[in-house]
Amino acid sequence: MTNPVTTTQHGGTIPAQPGPRDVTDAALARTGGSMEPRTGGTGAQASVIPGAGPAAPRPGERATLRLRETGDDEPARYAPEWLQLREPADAAARSYDLLDPLRIRLANLPGRADGLVIHDIGCGTGSMGRWLAPHLDGAQHWVLHDRDPYLLHFAAVASPRSAADGSHVTVETRRGDVARITADALSGASLVTASALLDVLTREEIGALAAACAGAGCPALLTLSVAGRVELTAPHPLDQEITEAFNAHQRRGDLLGPDAVTVAAEAFAEHGATVRLNPSPWRLGPGDEALIEQWLRGWVGAAVEERPDLTARADGYLTERLEACAAGELRVVVHHSDLLALCRPAGGAA
Ligand SMILES: C[S@@+](CC[C@H](N)C(=O)[O-])C[C@H]1O[C@@H](n2cnc3c(N)ncnc32)[C@H](O)[C@@H]1O
Repeated sequence: MTNPVTTTQHGGTIPAQPGPRDVTDAALARTGGSMEPRTGGTGAQASVIPGAGPAAPRPGERATLRLRETGDDEPARYAPEWLQLREPADAAARSYDLLDPLRIRLANLPGRADGLVIHDIGCGTGSMGRWLAPHLDGAQHWVLHDRDPYLLHFAAVASPRSAADGSHVTVETRRGDVARITADALSGASLVTASALLDVLTREEIGALAAACAGAGCPALLTLSVAGRVELTAPHPLDQEITEAFNAHQRRGDLLGPDAVTVAAEAFAEHGATVRLNPSPWRLGPGDEALIEQWLRGWVGAAVEERPDLTARADGYLTERLEACAAGELRVVVHHSDLLALCRPAGGAA
């Protein structure tokens, strides 16, 4: 990753979310002036994808969680409000079964007494660190990478405070693109993590990530990749068509969408890593209305963007689903996968 920026911080909480423009100057100051100007995110052209895909608001609909316009060539940007909304569901979904094999690998690291160095790729606002740091013993230094300096700002100010055993946790942020990550950039790393990232990457980007981790002899915990399957209760005749259109949207261009986790498992295995895959579904129901609503709007919106011929039927579908959600009658399972890759230690035995 390029352009090391930034700050070393020692714990905090996500502040009340400022609007995109409110934070620009502060974020600019913290990121060395490298952030581009932003526009507000309520226009019909806004294309920020808060996790479930870009969707233009329909007439009369509030455009939710869109951050600002992006040009055709600009990558999608994620709204911190969306990442914050999904953080508790992500934490509940993550596969705890992968933690023990990870802890065993980390316990056997040479130089472990000096603490862990953990690189979180595509960190967004830093939710992975807030979840994982308190599950690992020992001092930790987190290096938070993202291509979006606006999100790095949030990650820096809301960093995890302490490890499972009370040891100190520090963070720094680095702006850069996963496509350019190298083994050298990960030199000295104890662990690489990513969350909700793989499915928005290309085969080349995943290959670069696997090669970098393998070259550095570093394990990787890559969580919450979309699996392309959802279950809504009660079932509806349009569920399958919307799912397929959404998945096709996820695969737009060179992006891997629901194929990403398989591609990643193969890429790490080709480098000799031992790979474990575990399910990590969101299980949403009464009490999760805000998240379900935003997820539904994004999910259906992306499906319609992919298949405009679905628009009329999807409108009725969305209305029906949102009514059930508001009444506390909708349950949703959104399937994800977590991947643990135990790469061969650099220069040592597997
Ligand atoms: C869905 S968000 C997940 C954020 C965070 N990991 C979480 O779980 O809340 C995906 C994140 O990956 C970043 N990202 C996407 N593609 C990237 C790339 N090629 N290089 C670096 N960061 C990338 C985005 O800016 C965004 O912050």
